[in-house]
Amino acid sequence: MDVSGVLRRMIEESVVKTVIERTDIVRLISEYVQLRKRGGRLIGLCPFHREKTPSFTVNGDKGAYYCFGCHEGGSAVDFLMKLENLSFPEAIERLAERLGIEVVHTERHNDHARQSGKSREKSFYEVMKSAESYFVSALASSEGENCRNYASRRGITPEMIQSFGLGFSPESWDGIVQHLRKSGQSLEHAKELGLIASRESGGYYARFRNRLMFPVHNIKGDIIAFGGRILDKSETAKYINSPESQIYVKGEHLYGLYQAKMHITREHCAILVEGNVDVVMMHGFGFCHTVASMGTALTEKQAALIARHTKRVYLMYDGDNAGRKAMCRALGILLTQDFEGLYAVELPKDDDPDSYLRTYGAEGMQSLIDNAKPLGIWCIQKKCSDLMALVPELRKSGYGELSDIIHEFPDKLSRHHYLEEAARYLGVDTKRLAIELGMNLEYQPQTEVASRVEIEKIQYDQIEWDVVHLVLVSPQRYQNFIEQHGLDLIQNPGLRALLTQYVNVEDKDNTYAVLSSLGEDSRQLYEKLICSCPDVPEENLDKWYHGALAGLVRNWAAREHQQLGYSIAEAVKRSDAEQVSLLLAKDQKLIAMMQETEKERQFCWQTGVS
Ligand code: GTP
Ligand code: MN
Repeated sequence: MDVSGVLRRMIEESVVKTVIERTDIVRLISEYVQLRKRGGRLIGLCPFHREKTPSFTVNGDKGAYYCFGCHEGGSAVDFLMKLENLSFPEAIERLAERLGIEVVHTERHNDHARQSGKSREKSFYEVMKSAESYFVSALASSEGENCRNYASRRGITPEMIQSFGLGFSPESWDGIVQHLRKSGQSLEHAKELGLIASRESGGYYARFRNRLMFPVHNIKGDIIAFGGRILDKSETAKYINSPESQIYVKGEHLYGLYQAKMHITREHCAILVEGNVDVVMMHGFGFCHTVASMGTALTEKQAALIARHTKRVYLMYDGDNAGRKAMCRALGILLTQDFEGLYAVELPKDDDPDSYLRTYGAEGMQSLIDNAKPLGIWCIQKKCSDLMALVPELRKSGYGELSDIIHEFPDKLSRHHYLEEAARYLGVDTKRLAIELGMNLEYQPQTEVASRVEIEKIQYDQIEWDVVHLVLVSPQRYQNFIEQHGLDLIQNPGLRALLTQYVNVEDKDNTYAVLSSLGEDSRQLYEKLICSCPDVPEENLDKWYHGALAGLVRNWAAREHQQLGYSIAEAVKRSDAEQVSLLLAKDQKLIAMMQETEKERQFCWQTGVS
């Protein structure tokens, strides 16, 4: 980030204070979330995670929000920063704008330059906006009939057209010139933006003609460029895109991100595709967290842009060879950012996301996504299968590519892991493959990989830990846990102590109240617990929980069974036949219970947890 830019953006302390004081958090949040009154609180569906029952609460008096599902919480400024991915000064500016407060910056010396730069920028956005409305009305007019038919043939619905602001650039050489002139826009700026070009004989002409127009937005929603797709097969380029300008740098934006950003936050992941049309169709079919890299190979800037919004990315490029190659190349770019999950969604050879959706619908697409492979593994396997398809004499370059992919991984541990994966796939010895690839096999496992929380968790039984977490974050699960006498199933003394105290907390929804009624140890444990997160997909949590609970019951039964074994042995020694048969009957029940709960656990974990 440009540090001088940040400095210039420093806002006077008093303004910050006023903005924070005057902002009505309820009104702000209501613009994003439908809030309802329940009890004394306002609740709604959390915009930060996917949920069916509301656990997102707003306290207007205290100016705070908190989600009991995902524990996202804070002030109005935090809300805006997180939801819109803004920096602190950006969020303050946005709030000030709403309140009609003028933002005073502390660093004034280049204010003048900044001001004129800013008004220039503003004029550019206005030109773009005006062009968009021209294209939109052209699409709706009689001129646009061909284009409308083209869109509808491709399954692009009026709703999709509307939400992406799609339009049509008419055949006319000077239609847009006249439109811009009439609406008082700067034609010089329109030229800089590549909407129009100069005629040799003087005057201007339209650069985009007879094309379906895709406006490209920056993260705030300003239009910064257009992509124009030819309506039918022709000799000329399929797309004409806006050139770079003061407001648009190639490779720094993602098509559809403006429309997708809230959905990406909520879904905790993004889908990255190649084409503009793919984005529009994916959104139309309900995959609103989809964006595209706009024709260029994915850049580091774009990867960083995605990383600002989510830590998980599904890559779904066209199924052809070029698309698959591009996915492998994207791996290296994505690895420059600290993503936590990268997945490859593989389309059939002749499909792109758009054609796949039209053949198999949203359900088909969903199951394809559900079957996504970790991108690293996918790339390795792809390179290996390419390699095996070659006759041995030609494999040298294949080994080179395989080695390149493996070396994309920044740490030795994962390089070694993928080396082994490749060796397994190729059916060769790891050491030999390492020699073939010129790799040094020696590596030191990285102990610092595990975070502190993870290390601490190891002292606890993982399943107990996760179950208690799940119970503490969900009132429904808590209820169920109590009904099932879950407390008796927990072995760890720390967790037991915490739960015993927690049972007596009156207002369990109020984190503050909970924390203040717990003892010191339990309090710390509680904070840690609610901040940790089991390694199970969100939608499978309940099923996983039931499986885990069944597992804990089974373990309990197994312990009882073992204890009973000793008692039976003693009764046998005493030749107490009556007692023996009594205990054996009890043991039968325990064994049946063990089998039943084991079955249940397996059922929940196999079908519920992939
Ligand atoms: P369809 O072929 O209609 O499905 O279009 P698409 O949007 O899916 O495009 P495609 O997958 O062929 O290409 C991916 C992206 O690359 C497009 O959305 C454009 O942004 C860009 N692109 C494609 N063709 C061209 C071209 O000829 N010139 C330029 N500059 N960009 C292109
Ligand atoms: Mn396409």
